[in-house]
Amino acid sequence: MSAEAKIKLLTSELKEHNYNYYVLARPTISDRDFDRKLKELELLEQAFPAHVDPNSPTKRVGGEITKSFDTVVHSSRMLSLGNTYNKEELMDFDNRVAKLTGGNDYQYTAELKFDGLAIAIRYKNGLLHQAITRGDGTKGDDVTANVKTIRSIPHQLKGEFPVDLEVRGELFIHKAAFVKMNEERIRLGESPYANPRNTAAGTLKIQDSSEVAKRPLDGFLYQMLEHGGALNHYQSIEMMRSYGLPVDEATKLCDSINDVWDFIIYWDQERHNLSFDIDGVVVKVNSRLQQEEMGFTSKFPRWAMSYKFETERQLTKVININYQVGRTGAVTPVAILEPVQLLGTTVRRASIHNADFISQMDIRVGDSVFVEKGGEIIPKIVGVEKSMRDSNSIPTQFINVCPECSAELDRPEGEAVFRCPNYSGCPPQIKGKIEHFIGRKAMDVSSLGEEKIDVLYQSGLLHRPVDLYELKHTNILGLSKNIINEDSAEERVVSFKEKTVQNILDGIQASKSQPFERVLFALGIRFVGETVAKKLAYHFKSMDGLMNASLENLNAVPEIGEVIACSLRSYFSSDENKTEIELMKSHGLNFNVEEKELSSNKLENLSFVVSGIFSLFSRNELKKIIEDNGGKNVSSISKSTDYLVVGDNMGPAKKEKAEKLGIKMIDENEFSTMIAE
Ligand code: IVH
Repeated sequence: MSAEAKIKLLTSELKEHNYNYYVLARPTISDRDFDRKLKELELLEQAFPAHVDPNSPTKRVGGEITKSFDTVVHSSRMLSLGNTYNKEELMDFDNRVAKLTGGNDYQYTAELKFDGLAIAIRYKNGLLHQAITRGDGTKGDDVTANVKTIRSIPHQLKGEFPVDLEVRGELFIHKAAFVKMNEERIRLGESPYANPRNTAAGTLKIQDSSEVAKRPLDGFLYQMLEHGGALNHYQSIEMMRSYGLPVDEATKLCDSINDVWDFIIYWDQERHNLSFDIDGVVVKVNSRLQQEEMGFTSKFPRWAMSYKFETERQLTKVININYQVGRTGAVTPVAILEPVQLLGTTVRRASIHNADFISQMDIRVGDSVFVEKGGEIIPKIVGVEKSMRDSNSIPTQFINVCPECSAELDRPEGEAVFRCPNYSGCPPQIKGKIEHFIGRKAMDVSSLGEEKIDVLYQSGLLHRPVDLYELKHTNILGLSKNIINEDSAEERVVSFKEKTVQNILDGIQASKSQPFERVLFALGIRFVGETVAKKLAYHFKSMDGLMNASLENLNAVPEIGEVIACSLRSYFSSDENKTEIELMKSHGLNFNVEEKELSSNKLENLSFVVSGIFSLFSRNELKKIIEDNGGKNVSSISKSTDYLVVGDNMGPAKKEKAEKLGIKMIDENEFSTMIAE
């Protein structure tokens, strides 16, 4: 089969698998096989760029950078909906519909109301042409590159689609993905996002679409502008489904408002089992003709209405406002509440984010406040009942000194967060850094944890991560501490017995063999997460290389921007940090990328260009074999190239150039013989 045909085949197969997986949620292939095919396609596309489908499944990983989003005028206004909050209001809506339809029969479609952000997507000749945010309803931002990374949104329609089609719907982020993203942010010392909806909205406005691709956006479409022959709304949903567009399974055709009410009651309960947030139900008159007859008010369609669920919300009192200091020194305020039951759990604290949030909401100690639980990890305060406020209550003044070490707090320009600058003397920062250092993705000393680190810190043995390597059996055997659980008031003893001590020391010893990239991540340099640490390690190869890199050198590394570069420079300019790194070196930690063991040096001093498709190896495998045997891969042919390894379908230009320069051409069998000899 020709490369072109193979690319076509793989492209269409993968599109089908994407559809089965993301739209139908019925995969017919294992993730592994999918990844293998995707990789194969990627390699073929690299080798034959002329045959790449512009809507190839490989493009879902993004890559396009949008400097600023273009403004696009909507083909018709993107309207919002009127709201109802109880059965009476819903019945009033039904009475109005009955009047406006002049006594004729009518049906409703009941749909879930997805809590995300609205999007309009235009298809031309079945190809995704443009995606526009709601904006002010009249015009929005062109976010096509970002929407193209969403796997459930097809780049190409299936079936009998209209030539010009505009569909509208809602994009959102799944609850679990949101929690995971926030856990990661907290781990990196960043402040968490408030809720999945804002996170989805923020994600859609990121300028680098490859960043967007890493965040799992999803969505459902609920409106088709061109009727495509559909006589009613429910049919148009079915049509969108037939074009391969993601539409929600829950959508239901209802013969009466009572059926709609049953749908509402059912989903009010069931919503907690959904993987995404909904905030109500949308009811739409089903017939297109009746919709047209009813028309619009200045803001809303008269033929549709939203029913908003009550969010579980409780009134309780703020007993105190505490301030927590994280490992990067960020000071986070937390409201301590009179315990209250919310969705089956007792809530004692609520996040109040930062100083701006406190002053905007005017939250004071003693206030009665409403707390709500969304997809968030900790419940949040959504309102203050000012009518219940004590007349002598005083506005909250955000602290100006660190609650843990009394250092004066900083508020860096442009940041919402106050920070304690006493990085090396503030207890929660010290302990936080050590906890990060031993973390699973860092040095991975699983025999230590928060409580044991606390005991070691309290006994004066640990002040900084490198002190771990100074710990001695005799110094830590027998240490102990009583720990009281704040919520249950239960008391426990953490004690360092013989076996515990041995496990701790063994774990610390074993951590010395962690590779450089992990050591770099473990240092906890601001903005240097796991991936950035890997990139830096492979680029600079050693700590010395990294420490000596100028701002420009750092900035020149792909995907390392100004913020990371400055953070690195500031970290390495501290004598304390430099001393700690030296000490770590003396304890034998890895500060170099270990050179790979060569399989042989048969290809030493030889340079290779690999081109085309091979049957014995993938191109990447072949390149790796070259490197493992001491050879060098180069991307284009020059007179200093020693060999051109020729695969199937190699471009004629390369061949011509190699012939002209007298470069030796070998096929994969000849190459294998070279290695085997
Ligand atoms: S229909 C003219 N259907 O809710 C009809 N909207 O509060 C326009 N929404 O702006 C919207 N789920 O962003 C419709 N199944 C659904 C929806 C839905 C969520 C959003 C949409 C709209 C907002 C109105």
